[in-house]
Amino acid sequence: MTLTSLRYNEVMKSDNVDFPISELIRRRKSVRAFTDQLVEQDKLNSLFEATRWAPSSTNEQPWLYIYASKDQTALWNKLFEALNDGNKIWVKDAPLLIVSFARKNFTRFPGPNAHAMYDLGGANAFLALQAVELGLQVRQIAGFNAAKVMENLNVPDLYEPGVFLAVGYPGSPESLPENLKLREAAPRERNSQQVFVMNQVFDNEK
Ligand SMILES: Cc1cc2nc3c(=O)[nH]c(=O)nc-3n(C[C@H](O)[C@H](O)[C@H](O)COP(=O)(O)O)c2cc1C
Repeated sequence: MTLTSLRYNEVMKSDNVDFPISELIRRRKSVRAFTDQLVEQDKLNSLFEATRWAPSSTNEQPWLYIYASKDQTALWNKLFEALNDGNKIWVKDAPLLIVSFARKNFTRFPGPNAHAMYDLGGANAFLALQAVELGLQVRQIAGFNAAKVMENLNVPDLYEPGVFLAVGYPGSPESLPENLKLREAAPRERNSQQVFVMNQVFDNEK
């Protein structure tokens, strides 16, 4: 474990939870700063293995991933070019870029799979938690140009892009521009459970 990741873990300990949760969930954080260490092939395999075991409607497993390691410059750039400028600022040093897709139609039944994007989100969540176990962190990205992704990667119309995932070993926020440095260090805000958990029907009179 590097000094940076030790410090990072200390910071993460200050994140308060209201009730006990899994250590993997507690330690996950969407970081923007990564070290330049590439993600090793065995870890890459584990990340995608985790998605294999995600649940999906009718077990369709409607996800597809295209990844590029930073040392695969041509392919990495094809992914990178499709990002919005605001994301390019911090993604430019990400050692691993992934773009995730949902397959729009069922393969074993006729017609569209209304839950394909939902299932992709679940698979991506599994990937993000597996990353934490491997000492990595993931930041998902919806800020990209979908048409550019399809064109740059020659993707058939059977697929719809979901999110990009920037992956790597957490690095020092000092490497980021000032505004992002501050956002990286800001406390993480969450709704309390009262806001979104109900044990009753809606009360129309309120
Ligand atoms: C679907 C989705 C899209 C996101 N898009 C972006 C994005 O375009 N740029 C970015 O910097 N972060 C993006 N994020 C990261 C969120 O801002 C982050 O998850 C949120 O602030 C909560 O922080 P946490 O993941 O560290 O708990 C996205 C996350 C998700 C799940």
